[in-house]
Amino acid sequence: MASPALICDTQPWKDLKAHVEDIKKTHLRDLMNDSERCKSMMLEIDGLLLDYSRQCATQDTMEKLFRLAEAAHLKQKINSMYSGEHINSTENRSVLHVALRASRDKVICSDGKNVVPDVWKVLDRISEFSERVRSGSWVGVTGKALKDVIAVGIGGSFLGPLFVHTALQTDPEAIQCAKGRQLRFLANVDPIDVAKSITGLNPETTLAVVVSKTFTTAETMLNARTLREWISAALGPQAVAKHMVAVSTNLTLVEKFGIDPNNAFAFWDWVGGRYSVCSAVGVLPLSLQYGFPVVEKFLKGASSIDQNFHSAPFEKNIPVLLGLLSIWNVSFLGYPARAILPYSQALEKFAPHIQQVSMESNGKGISIDGVQLPYEAGEIDFGEPGTNGQHSFYQLIHQGRVIPCDFIGVVKSQQPVYLKGELVSNHDELMSNFFAQPDALAYGKTPEQLLNENVPQHLIPHKTFSGNRPSLSLLLPSLNAYNIGQLLAIYEHRIAVEGFIWGINSFDQWGVELGKSLASQVRKQLNASRTKGEPVEGFNFSTTTMLNKYLEAKSRVPANPTTVLPKV
Ligand code: F6P
Repeated sequence: MASPALICDTQPWKDLKAHVEDIKKTHLRDLMNDSERCKSMMLEIDGLLLDYSRQCATQDTMEKLFRLAEAAHLKQKINSMYSGEHINSTENRSVLHVALRASRDKVICSDGKNVVPDVWKVLDRISEFSERVRSGSWVGVTGKALKDVIAVGIGGSFLGPLFVHTALQTDPEAIQCAKGRQLRFLANVDPIDVAKSITGLNPETTLAVVVSKTFTTAETMLNARTLREWISAALGPQAVAKHMVAVSTNLTLVEKFGIDPNNAFAFWDWVGGRYSVCSAVGVLPLSLQYGFPVVEKFLKGASSIDQNFHSAPFEKNIPVLLGLLSIWNVSFLGYPARAILPYSQALEKFAPHIQQVSMESNGKGISIDGVQLPYEAGEIDFGEPGTNGQHSFYQLIHQGRVIPCDFIGVVKSQQPVYLKGELVSNHDELMSNFFAQPDALAYGKTPEQLLNENVPQHLIPHKTFSGNRPSLSLLLPSLNAYNIGQLLAIYEHRIAVEGFIWGINSFDQWGVELGKSLASQVRKQLNASRTKGEPVEGFNFSTTTMLNKYLEAKSRVPANPTTVLPKV
């Protein structure tokens, strides 16, 4: 019998649908009393502790989810990914970000060719180049060392590197390695972002790294041209060769832009933009800031999870477990969102990065075979570090909507602080919240408890917490480069698991195209109206009215306006 086109037509899916009724009769308050159950829902891998006992799930649920994974051919799909099959079928590409962090001796093939030697060729070049810049043997056009770097890129060419940079910035080893250096990012095409990125920097000591997989992204290319202008206005056009380098899969366009191809660092079409932080996209700017040895540790951390994902049985496979639980929450319990709550300020850019990885990957309504999905795929991801989030949106997750939460904690702080006379260290204070919140969500507070506390009757409904709100906790031993790599890979693979089960292509992103092409029509109109006074035409009433309002506020621009750079 031919396998059903959609996962929802399989028996395991139907069994899980029916099982929802069983779970609705349970409460986490009771489930948490079953220590056998809780024990079976804890897993320690390579120093990480995963506790998913606060999911609204039983051992029976897990069995059923494993059967769903079988029905979705999850193991085969993971193997297809690792063996370089073109699983990104709409773009006819392999999906091999795991090759970016494979050790030199690994063999990972795309189109019959082992890509690992190519990966290491670029990594070795980055190691050598970043050392030359850091040691001052590669200098700017005026002979000064380049101590500041602006990485220009957007989306996957920005969010991953920003997350890792933010996480490393307070790590003691990374701090030592970054002494006297700055790494900044320029992503938004908003000229304010240009102003912010160059404020206080001297072009003489600045290196711009233009990061774009395609080298056609409108925002990145305009920002790159703007920085090129900033550099050449101050130092002359010949300075570009010394002050601008590039990361791209499109080396022809890099050269056309005016960057010496010898100063370009390649990656490949089998690396999706949002999965590219372990390619030169992240490795180059991060190595310039922290040195390659620190970044290599990050790659090793990611690689350790790659191995867990590829070879561990599902019940000991962190990304698979997390992916299956997400499917359970979204597709069966009907909770469409997920909160990512790291109890570490160093992880403040983790949720923004995962938003792209998750929502650009799985925000789809069509199966990989082109069939309209009769169920919702994708999750709405958001998050903030604890405890800040507690004072912002936690009200909603405690008493409003049910939002499964990921609590991420760290055993050993990057920056220990303890004040004599205080009850606990500052990190213990933070972690008290990390341990308390999941129980508050799971157990809640009953009207009986409130009555016993003599809470006035009229306040009892307001102070009642229903509980039974699912979360999971991930405890990292510390937050060094290695652990940051582990965390990244866990989420990357979890999102792939979800896509594999939903039967979608998690590696394309056609949904970003329509807005881009409409923006290009607007761009043409703005140019025609400003330079030739042409009326707004071809837009609907609403857009025409707004465009006219926008245009009337500014005076006509001369046909050949002179260059204006931010006044900072
Ligand atoms: O937002 C769409 C997108 O194509 C992302 O997938 C990608 O990360 C981003 O734009 C940047 O693309 P590029 O690296 O080609 O500039």
